[in-house]
Amino acid sequence: MVPKISTLSGYIHEYQKSVANPTGFWANIADSFYWRKKWDTILKWNFNDPEIEWFKGGRLNITENIFERNLFQHGEQKALIWEPNDPSESIIELTYEELFSEVKSFANVLRNHAVKKGDRVAIYLPMVPELVIAMLACARIGAIHSVVFAGFSANALSERINDAQAKILITADGGFRGNKIINLKETADEALLNSPSIRSNIVVKRTNQKIEWNTKRDFWWHTEMDKVMDEASAEIMDAEDPLFILYTSGSTGKPKGVVHSTAGYMVYAAYTFKNVFQYSSNDIYFCAADIGWITGHSYIVYGPLLEGATTVMFEGIPNFPNPSRYWDIINKHQVNQFYSSPTALRSLIAEGQQWIKDVKMPSLRVLGTVGEPINEEAWHWYHDHVGKNKCPIVDTWWQTETGGIMISPIAGVIPTKPAFACLPLPGIQPVIVDAEGNKLCGNSVEGNLCLQFPWPGIARTIWNDHPRYVKSYFSKYQGLYFTGDGVRRDEDGYYRILGRMDDVINVAGHRLGTAEIENAINEHPLVVESAVVGYPHEIKGQGVFAFVVSNDIPMNAIEELKNSIKKGVSKMISPIARPDFILFVDGLPKTRSGKIMRRILKNIVEHKSDFGDITTLTNPEIVDHLLQIYNSMEK
Ligand code: WTA
Repeated sequence: MVPKISTLSGYIHEYQKSVANPTGFWANIADSFYWRKKWDTILKWNFNDPEIEWFKGGRLNITENIFERNLFQHGEQKALIWEPNDPSESIIELTYEELFSEVKSFANVLRNHAVKKGDRVAIYLPMVPELVIAMLACARIGAIHSVVFAGFSANALSERINDAQAKILITADGGFRGNKIINLKETADEALLNSPSIRSNIVVKRTNQKIEWNTKRDFWWHTEMDKVMDEASAEIMDAEDPLFILYTSGSTGKPKGVVHSTAGYMVYAAYTFKNVFQYSSNDIYFCAADIGWITGHSYIVYGPLLEGATTVMFEGIPNFPNPSRYWDIINKHQVNQFYSSPTALRSLIAEGQQWIKDVKMPSLRVLGTVGEPINEEAWHWYHDHVGKNKCPIVDTWWQTETGGIMISPIAGVIPTKPAFACLPLPGIQPVIVDAEGNKLCGNSVEGNLCLQFPWPGIARTIWNDHPRYVKSYFSKYQGLYFTGDGVRRDEDGYYRILGRMDDVINVAGHRLGTAEIENAINEHPLVVESAVVGYPHEIKGQGVFAFVVSNDIPMNAIEELKNSIKKGVSKMISPIARPDFILFVDGLPKTRSGKIMRRILKNIVEHKSDFGDITTLTNPEIVDHLLQIYNSMEK
């Protein structure tokens, strides 16, 4: 098991060690894992012509580190507790032994379907145990999983399958979410019309709804599992072999396939999980994220299971059947650490105090938040009403590309400040730079958040597009990884994340590229062009605001057109990207080179009156027009 920091002086000591001798620091942590062969080189890196390798020459399998490494200690312990959407349905509990047996069986199913080391497997499942089993079965045989969030549309799924050239898809007949049923198989069928790389589609039976069946391509999960044994040897991987791809949005159109390595990701996910949440043996840990996002990968699946924890997986949503659901789950399973998001908390605050006021949750010790900046009001509510003033809050800043938590308090060890991610974890060297890339030293500074030294969990590339990796993260500031976030370091050296500085918006903790949404809007035959910006939203943090240019629409057709544009975005991407507001305008503010000046649009929706220098616009008169229309719209 990885070492755990338990005092502030311990943190300071470890941090200093990690900067003075990063390779020694990480080698010591990596030593606690099970290697078939130890590494030859701890770290080789270059941020100018970016190539990063950790533990090169090492050979291992991550599932041997989850199972074989720990089974003699806790084979009988619960690995996974699955809480269904409907609380009257039975829970599912799997011990490490049982989960291992399922993983090995499904590894054999994959092998029966000719999946080999290095092949890509797309997983489009709701939050059911089979999702964890499928991911780990891929890892067992060295296949690269690409989990696609079950809220994505057929088009988005197909785009991701095609980019990765996945061989197999794993989906379900449907999924339960609150009082809704999600027709996953139907969406997958539609996606597969345009995804010829998929040879087999393995379908989990969850909702038992009526579905179409393609006898050549579709296979039931349970019948395939009946055909196999539960012994499956692990494929021994190189440290740098990819473990998974996870698509995320960037500032340009297409989603990026972020690639994580086997060994570096493993070491980093386990180390950060254990330390940030101060996990101790026999604790019950509950992360309420969806496994379709990086938080679920690192902190429902890999981090907890590598450390032998009991991880709670929840199929449903926070307000079904009522807004006490999280608190009921915490008490039902005696949860010690709870990890959630600001949007979920704000939506529960909006439901009223009656759902939390008399609830006691004596088992809770640590509260976590992730995905977007948390406002002070939500922080205090979490602290006072959920944590009853006795649980430290870990406001964890990180990204899909970082693999694990980067800047965060260590629970109970680092004193917290509301709405601050606080201090870098050991091994993490943040720097703040101004627009020209000058490092801003000392405290009380604000600028762009970069990292100047690699950590084991850093993404290694973008699938099939290394130039995009270079351009997205390493080209803006020489020799630095740029996160895309703005940050302030206050007078105490504490970090407060200010939000994205690029054309990425964060809607309800979901990361969306404005260009991706614009492309979807522009597909509409009546749309000439569009510009999307995020606007402050009380619950979702940011909402989607679209300025749309469309010619000659009759007044009485405006609502209809808005609805059909919104529908188009849901269909092209997902309902999560649907614009909250659409404003039809005569034109967009453009520079002489034809670039849309989003800064102006952002200022309008944020009600900032200072537009800065607008003389570089080809059409400065448009600003007054936009303001006038904006001010007269119903909000
Ligand atoms: C934002 C999610 C403020 C940030 C793990 C980052 C945060 C983006 C925080 C990554 C936080 C994440 N405080 N902002 N604690 N955590 N973010 O890739 O803008 O889905 O760049 O990874 O979320 O989102 P992603």
